[in-house]
Amino acid sequence: MAKQTIRDIDWRDRRALVRVDFNVPFDGGTISDDTRIRAALPTIRYLREHGAAVVLMSHLGRPKNTVVERLRLAPVAAHLAGLLGTPVQTIGVTSGPLAEAAVAALAPGDVLVLENTRFDAREEANDATLAAELARLGDVFVNDAFGAAHRAHASTAGVAHLLPAVAGLLMEAELAALAGPLEAPERPFVTIIGGAKISDKIGVIEHLLQTVDALLIGGGMANTFLLAQGYALGASLVEPDAVGVARRLLDLAAARGVALHLPSDLVVADRFAADAASRVVPLDGVPDGWMALDIGPATAAAYTATILPARTVIWNGPMGVFELAPFAAGTRAIARALADCPGLTVIGGGDSVAAVEQMGLADRIRHISTGGGATLELLEGKTLPGVAVLAERP
Ligand code: 3PG
Repeated sequence: MAKQTIRDIDWRDRRALVRVDFNVPFDGGTISDDTRIRAALPTIRYLREHGAAVVLMSHLGRPKNTVVERLRLAPVAAHLAGLLGTPVQTIGVTSGPLAEAAVAALAPGDVLVLENTRFDAREEANDATLAAELARLGDVFVNDAFGAAHRAHASTAGVAHLLPAVAGLLMEAELAALAGPLEAPERPFVTIIGGAKISDKIGVIEHLLQTVDALLIGGGMANTFLLAQGYALGASLVEPDAVGVARRLLDLAAARGVALHLPSDLVVADRFAADAASRVVPLDGVPDGWMALDIGPATAAAYTATILPARTVIWNGPMGVFELAPFAAGTRAIARALADCPGLTVIGGGDSVAAVEQMGLADRIRHISTGGGATLELLEGKTLPGVAVLAERP
């Protein structure tokens, strides 16, 4: 089901009310990663070039329904102005008469950033009165906030019921890269799932087992699978409560004929530190008191060999504690394998994105998602509320 996009609208003399995800990290008052702002530029540029006045709304952080000075969007708007090379207005309110007056004064091509939507308690409640106030600020609603599309809030979902609602170019690209392959992947379809805990990703693994040809597991969550297979993991991070779940997922994979790959060797350390003593061990060789902090080289080689011939690859979550250099090799090997794979390669959010960026491989990955939670919910097979509300292509 393809969604209508901004290309389906005649924008001349119309106001585009655009939900973007400008929820960017700040470090010491400056934006430490502007990826999400850059990712919204194609939509903003397209709208301006086609004669629209552009009204942008976003959340920033979790201000808990009240005004938090350090979470105002003015610094984000200033950064956007620099990237666009054009002035960007801010007004310090999210909706209401002041916002309506500012919007009424916009000329085609002008850009206005409304205040953080989450300063208003009605946003997260998806309150109809806020949705109605927001709807007065545009002629057409554009959702380009893939990263917030799993939230049913007034600015992501409620307002879409009151205006024609279409996808922005980022939203379109995210759905094409993630939802498309999940529905009808070119095969072999391989996914790599890492991260600390199985309990965070049970739904994801369960859903992927219905579609993938191979599922490669790494990171702390692999430990719990190995525990379920009877290995002694020393002082490694394990989830004893999730051993039953791990067994069930292993059985499910076997029943479906999916190759669920677990590590065959591990990098272990005597403590959780960059200068810890460390070595590569087989699965039955984790010394008492030592902990697994990365997949071993044999595992990395086997995973690489599975990834390279794949036609579709989706990766979410690191293979080890890659922020500590001695335990980054597994994650780096996976990043390299995706970069070398000629198939459709997609990285879904968070730490795996940081890894490819650190390695300078980002431009060799077909799509890098701006979503965190939204990506995981798509991988879980869930319908995203901010997508469901957008008009379908006839
Ligand atoms: C994100 O950073 O994943 C999105 O911007 C959503 O933010 P939230 O988890 O605070 O809703």
